[in-house]
Parts: sequence; structure tokens; C-alpha cells
Amino acid sequence: MTVAQVDAQGRLRHFLTLEGLPRTVLVRLLDLAQSFDDRRGDTSLRSTLVGRTVCTLFFEPSTRTRSSFQIAAQRLGADVLTFDASTSSTSKGETARDTMRTLEAMGVHGFVVRHKEDGAVAALAAQARPGTALVNAGDGRIAHPTQGLLDMLTLRQAKGTDFSKLKVAIVGDVKHSRVARTDLHALRTLGTGEIRVCGPQSLLPTDATLEGCTVTQDFDAALDGVDAIMMLRLQRERMEEGLVGSLTDYHRDYGLTATRLRRAAPDAVVLHPGPMNRGVEIDDDVADGPQSLILRQVANGVAARMAVLEVLLGA
Ligand code: CP
Repeated sequence: MTVAQVDAQGRLRHFLTLEGLPRTVLVRLLDLAQSFDDRRGDTSLRSTLVGRTVCTLFFEPSTRTRSSFQIAAQRLGADVLTFDASTSSTSKGETARDTMRTLEAMGVHGFVVRHKEDGAVAALAAQARPGTALVNAGDGRIAHPTQGLLDMLTLRQAKGTDFSKLKVAIVGDVKHSRVARTDLHALRTLGTGEIRVCGPQSLLPTDATLEGCTVTQDFDAALDGVDAIMMLRLQRERMEEGLVGSLTDYHRDYGLTATRLRRAAPDAVVLHPGPMNRGVEIDDDVADGPQSLILRQVANGVAARMAVLEVLLGA
């Protein structure tokens, strides 16, 4: 069963993927997220979602996404329920659907769901009651739409809203990355001038994911004159044996060092969704250096998630 995330009137019902999301909807969410970022500390926002209940339903670990959704919901005045799969009745075999239906019966209006299986959140959305909204907080290798939203917000703040002249490099373990897939959809929708994708052959997808991108295994060539570098985490937990050699070899070929960063434009910015493998895909002096926007991304996660919750659950 499939479910449309945008209804016939163009309203967002769920937030499941950035693939196919109309540009107008994406830009409206980015503008709203920016307005929430501009209004940090504005306590009047706490009346926005009074009487609404949001449940964070995570079947995979998370620090940034779960925490920032909780903060976002609280800043808008919603009641927040944190569901811990490891101490719940899912450990007795209760399905995700029955878990959702049980919590719906208690009065939850919106679920923020992370799941290890591709398509799991869309499948749950198709089984939700009318009026219940689902947000995909990351499923398998497929989608992490609020990460894409916060990444685009961070890029807009650094480089302006016109992406047509931007050169952006996405580097590393693209094959296992829902962030890379999501950012690619968003960058295309926003009309990015050039998208370069770089990684070892074994970590590049072979399907249509990279259509329209400049693809290379040469990190130095990928960096040449780029305006933004989006580094990806090496996802060893999702990897079959042998896809990469040693971590030392990976760092030599695909680790972003301060020396390597000089190949990019002088005002290039560095992004990473986190959590980082420091000393593997990124060095400390880059992650913590003046060109890094990594903590700005984290801060923007709250504003981006406030925007999504407000659109889905607001009056
Ligand atoms: N970027 C991201 O999804 O981080 P978490 O796994 O900590 O939520």
C-alpha cells in the first residue's frame, strides 16, 4: 500500500521523502524553518501546538534527530512522548503497526519514526488513522527528509538561495547513505549548478541515484573549486565485509584533511550529518575548523523540524 505525502490541495499530510516533493513545498518549508531560526528564544511560539501530542518512535539509535525533534515539539508547545523500542512491548514481538495503533488510541497526533528497513515509515503511514501524521526520521538507505531540509537550510544560509551557480561535492559512503540520496533529491529540486559525487567504486550506488551527477573516485578532482563539501559517515554497521580496505587506506584516499580542503574554493563550507568517524572520513582540524558548518547543521535541525511539525500538526 502506498500513501501520498501531499494531498490534492497541495497540503503536506506526512513527511516521508524529498523525492518528488514539489519545489514550492520544499521552499516553503525552508522559509518557515528560517523564520523559526530567526525567532530563537521567542516563547510565544509555545502556543502553536498546544493540545497536540508528538511521539518519537525510534527503532534505531539516534542522538541528533530524536533530540532535536523533541526540542522542536516542546518549543511549539506540543506534548512529547519518547518511545524506547528496547524497553517496549516490541521486544515481546508487537509489530510497529500495532505499536503505532496503540499509541494513536492514547491520543498521539504525530509520529516521528526511524526504522532500519527501507520503506518502513511509508508503510506505517499507509496504515495510520486519517488525521495522524508521520514523519520519516530515517529509514534504511532510502530517505532522511528532515536531514535534507536542515542541510539545504544550512547551505542557503551560507551561500544564498540561488543554487544555480553552486558546485557541491558529496563524498564517501554514498551506497549506504539515506542522507546522500535525500540531499541529491533536494539539490536537484533547488537547481544546483553542479553536483559531484565521489567515493570508492564499492561504495557508489549502481542504480539511478547518481543520474545527472559528475561521478569520480578521485577525491582531489572532486574537490577542485567546489563551494560546499558534504562528507558522509562510513557506515560500517550496514556494510558487508570487504567493501573497503583498512581505515588507514580509506582516510588516505577519502579523508578530508586541511591540506585537501585547500583544493576547494577559498570560501568553501564543509558539512557532515554526524555522527562523525573522526580521523577516518574527516580530520579534527576540518571538523572543528572555520569552514565547518557541522554544528550549524545541528542547530538548524531544530528549526527545520519545527517547520515540519508546524505544517503537519498546526492549526
Ligand atoms: N544525522 C543523524 O541522523 O544523526 P543521528 O543518527 O544522531 O540522529
